[in-house]
Amino acid sequence: MKKIVVLISGQGTNLQALIDACKSGMIPAQIVSVISNKADAFGLQRAKSAAIPSKVFLRQEFKSNLAMDRQIAHYIESVQADLIVLAGYMKILSAEFTQRFAGRILNIHPSLLPKYPGLHTYQQALDAGEQEHGTTVHFVNEEVDGGPIILQAKVPIFDNDCIADIEERVKEQELRIYPLVVKWFVEDRLSLIDGKAFLDSQCLPKQGYATEE
Ligand code: GAR
Repeated sequence: MKKIVVLISGQGTNLQALIDACKSGMIPAQIVSVISNKADAFGLQRAKSAAIPSKVFLRQEFKSNLAMDRQIAHYIESVQADLIVLAGYMKILSAEFTQRFAGRILNIHPSLLPKYPGLHTYQQALDAGEQEHGTTVHFVNEEVDGGPIILQAKVPIFDNDCIADIEERVKEQELRIYPLVVKWFVEDRLSLIDGKAFLDSQCLPKQGYATEE
């Protein structure tokens, strides 16, 4: 059975969806560890409740970002993880880390990438007068939120929406699409070849599996 590590910084609702999907058998894999860069991340409680070991790496305990990433990488190798899932891990990983695990790191980002990488995506979408927003699951490379897109989900933005309204809609979609993509990976249907995402041996279009065309 494949082994997954999940990296978090906060609430861990995506982590919970993955825990549930592994438990139900929807994802035929085991989450062997949860890693957090915040000691008070609520996701750590979720790991505990599911009897999943967890480990906290605090930036202030390392000389540099790279030193911290090297320790995390060492730990991930020690638990022999096949897949690294970033689920609200709010710290940029070094190029050395992303290259070391190329093709084995997934991220979810709350925007329809390549629109709105980085922070405050809901505010940015509102300010721009967008009528839709969404979420993207992608392979991680050395560009922040820039790796090949695997799957996106769109949600509408209605007049008078506030950030919380949009966030709620996006979150609902995230909890659906992330377990699905992790399942594809675990079942060896998904891979990164020459910097492109492939599903069932087909190169995915730029916007991932689901497009409007
Ligand atoms: C998710 O909405 C995820 O898309 C976002 O953080 C949230 C984590 O929520 N990730 C990023 O912004 C990464 N750039 P969770 O802790 O409840 O899963």
